[in-house]
Amino acid sequence: MVTKPREVFLLSALILQTLASFAGAARPQLAWRASGVTIGLKADAQPGTKFVKYCGEHADEICNLPGLNGVPHVRMRAGYITVSEISNRQLWYLVADREEESNDLQRAGPGDASSSSNVNGDVSGAAAGDAGYDRPQPRSEVAPVILWLTGGPGCSSLDAFIYEHGPFKFSYAASTATTANGGDAQAEAGEVAGDGVEGADKLSRQLQQRQRAVLLERNPHSWTKVATIIYVDSPAGAGMSYSGRPEVDYHTNDEYTIADLVAFLGGLTERYPELATAPFFLAGESYGGVFVPLLAQELLRVNRNRRADGEEPLVNLQGYSVGNPVTDDVVDGNAQLFFAADMGYVDPPSWRRMRAACDDMFWNATRDTECWDAQGVVKDDLWDLNWYDVLDPCSKPDDDDDAVMGNKVAKSGNSTGGGGRRQRQVSELERRFYWPFSARMGYPSPQGTASAVEGQAHTEAAGAGRRGGRQLWGPWLRHVVPCMDRRIALDWLNRAEVRAALRAAPLSVIGEWQPCSDVLYYRLDTMNLVPLHEDLVRQGLRALVYSGDHDMVVPHTGTRKWVYDKANLGSTDGPLRPWMLNGQIAGFTARFNAGAGFRFATVKGAGHMVPQSKPLQALHLLRTFISNQDL
Ligand SMILES: *[C@@H]1O[C@H](CO)[C@@H](O)[C@H](O)[C@H]1NC(C)=O
Ligand SMILES: *[C@@H]1O[C@H](CO)[C@@H](O)[C@H](O)[C@H]1NC(C)=O
Repeated sequence: MVTKPREVFLLSALILQTLASFAGAARPQLAWRASGVTIGLKADAQPGTKFVKYCGEHADEICNLPGLNGVPHVRMRAGYITVSEISNRQLWYLVADREEESNDLQRAGPGDASSSSNVNGDVSGAAAGDAGYDRPQPRSEVAPVILWLTGGPGCSSLDAFIYEHGPFKFSYAASTATTANGGDAQAEAGEVAGDGVEGADKLSRQLQQRQRAVLLERNPHSWTKVATIIYVDSPAGAGMSYSGRPEVDYHTNDEYTIADLVAFLGGLTERYPELATAPFFLAGESYGGVFVPLLAQELLRVNRNRRADGEEPLVNLQGYSVGNPVTDDVVDGNAQLFFAADMGYVDPPSWRRMRAACDDMFWNATRDTECWDAQGVVKDDLWDLNWYDVLDPCSKPDDDDDAVMGNKVAKSGNSTGGGGRRQRQVSELERRFYWPFSARMGYPSPQGTASAVEGQAHTEAAGAGRRGGRQLWGPWLRHVVPCMDRRIALDWLNRAEVRAALRAAPLSVIGEWQPCSDVLYYRLDTMNLVPLHEDLVRQGLRALVYSGDHDMVVPHTGTRKWVYDKANLGSTDGPLRPWMLNGQIAGFTARFNAGAGFRFATVKGAGHMVPQSKPLQALHLLRTFISNQDL
């Protein structure tokens, strides 16, 4: 995901998960001795528990997940790959195998979400007649593999695992207004704030809430229905990944990040050789729009060199996919305000004046110009909008929520994880910066109003031999994703038993998990990915570029503009046309014919994180892309 420099939480408007039906679901009963070592399966094994037979044979297999009743229905392996011995730089991964789809029909029951509606109220599964899903299929062919890269830079792939397309749906086991994936922010915040109890009671109740059980159930729209998914936290300093030399390694950029990912894939395929030969795809969203093409290019280069040396390719790369991708600073950066104006969010006379003052170049406005000031007014007005999904509410932690969500450093007794995790106050200056495009311009300047920390970062980076030049995006990474509620993830991933289950380092070693890194200084050094897309498809990679059409961070209008007006991707298979799902228009698409083909698709009603807002549509897109079918 792309992040804005602001700490505000949002609860997306999501449905209430019927916990009753969940509780009624039959699950295999298991007894555990030491985690993942000995497993006893109680009598009549449920369908889909084939995994149990081998679960626990290897130390990296995840056989229990706190909050899940029974064994996972997919095989998952997790751990660290060392990408630098000298630094002890470690990238954390989780490999979730493709599901045994033939079991899905047998499993479908009250507890399975195939009989419930998803967050958009779409009826999923057989009820909606989306034939093809969950139909028993021969699975003799090798499962394709997808490496998933969340954006940021510095955001954790575990965020996507929990909120987007992982094998499980997460919810709080609460008796009150708590819901799957967060529920209604306003209702919940109101409930907490408005109950009139005294402060101390309130706090203790909040602390109790923080301990609420997190429940995991099967995600009917998991991408593991289609492929084996590799989740990796990258670069070191993001998510569960870390370095033994933070003062050096936490100053990084696109180039270092990609080099580490190549080293990571070397280590991972050595550990799991089957991943090297399977059809391999890269996928990501947001700033992943930078990582994915850069990594694809590098993998093609590495494979060429290996072939020249008579070696097997590192991975069998077939294609890549990016959603709401950061691609072109100028086009994407200008698109935000055009989107806002076209949605009716900007006063028309002001918009006219602003366009004239800026000459339609909003993204790189110079400070203290008329263009800059005019943008400031508009952005102030839109501060309370959820840019990630303009249809969703913006969750804003009040003081109470802050007590609930904010400062867990005190709890763990270790503040080395990056200092204050409480909500920062939003400064006037921050309001003027809209991640990530102004970031690339070097705002805020280290000499100016930015913190001393960032200036120090420059010095450190220079001392550490990192390339100088463009601005490091330092303390501005110290945030959570604005407007988005990430409480379940913050709760669950910072529990000792969850860390152990995920083979992730404990709090005492790497501090708290955060959705986006609060320790990285990142230099954004790739401004335009358009030529790379042109090149990659011509080198034989199949591409899917999709956009949730209600995202204002990387708006679909900007993506459409570079795809149609800037990139040379050959002719299309026809005009931009609707694509359908369950008899409804799910979005619009066209396929460009250059090389192995480049599909552009919008997803109607989706925000920045498409699989979170439209999971069924996202899975359908992925399925057709991976199997190279028409949409
Ligand atoms: C902003 O970017 C545009 C397009 O690249 C360029 O023509 C213009 O000179 C830049 N303006 C400033 C103030 O840097
Ligand atoms: C805090 O974390 C650091 C590593 O970041 C570790 O060296 C230290 O021992 C930890 N302190 C406590 C009290 O756990």
